Amino acid sequence: MTQDEMKQQVAKAALDYVVTDTIIGVGTGSTANFFIDALATIKHKIKGAVASSEATAQRLKGHGIEVFDLNMVDQMSVYIDGADETNKHMHLIKGGGGALTREKIVAAVADKFVCIIDETKKVGVLGTFPLPVEVIPMARSYVAREIVKLGGEPVLREGFKTDNGNVILDIHSMDIMEPVKLENQLNSIVGVVTNGLFAARPANVLLIGTQNGVNVEE
Ligand code: 5RP
Repeated sequence: MTQDEMKQQVAKAALDYVVTDTIIGVGTGSTANFFIDALATIKHKIKGAVASSEATAQRLKGHGIEVFDLNMVDQMSVYIDGADETNKHMHLIKGGGGALTREKIVAAVADKFVCIIDETKKVGVLGTFPLPVEVIPMARSYVAREIVKLGGEPVLREGFKTDNGNVILDIHSMDIMEPVKLENQLNSIVGVVTNGLFAARPANVLLIGTQNGVNVEE
């Protein structure tokens, strides 16, 4: 089975977590795209969705799924999204696609966060995948110097702007031994919008696509 086939099977398995007659949150990326395509087959069962990026909103609308502004939604049953890495505590690195801030906001509102990954994303220690940090453009150099003080190597994601008009610094060469602590440290640097560690609010359910089917961790 290819990595894409594992992503596709785990995306289909996530349909079991869609709560009938509710608004659900939908993530961003290739695994989330497979989920959106699968969701289209049961779209009559939900009221609609909140999108974590412009790209996801377009894909949902393309399937005829109503997209709600988060400010119009006071409750969300579930948020379903991929990740770049996860450890055994369901702490995640997200933001490979640059949508980390909206993803974190939607995840915060949802009652349950179901994370859908293929088996290559499970790691012992987070940090092999460069950790994305969304930064207000004028603070870019200052934030980069502060990240170096924390022991990371920030690299500007060239030619990329987030949906919020900001830049991304990807932090390389960091073994993330204390994800909650680092998430808070990075977020307290002035000029940082947020970072791609989802540790203070980890996933609640992990669905892992493997060569032998889908594993569930709760
Ligand atoms: C986007 C994300 C994605 O969930 C993450 O990058 C995984 O992407 P993919 O499903 O394409 O492997 O956080 O900002």
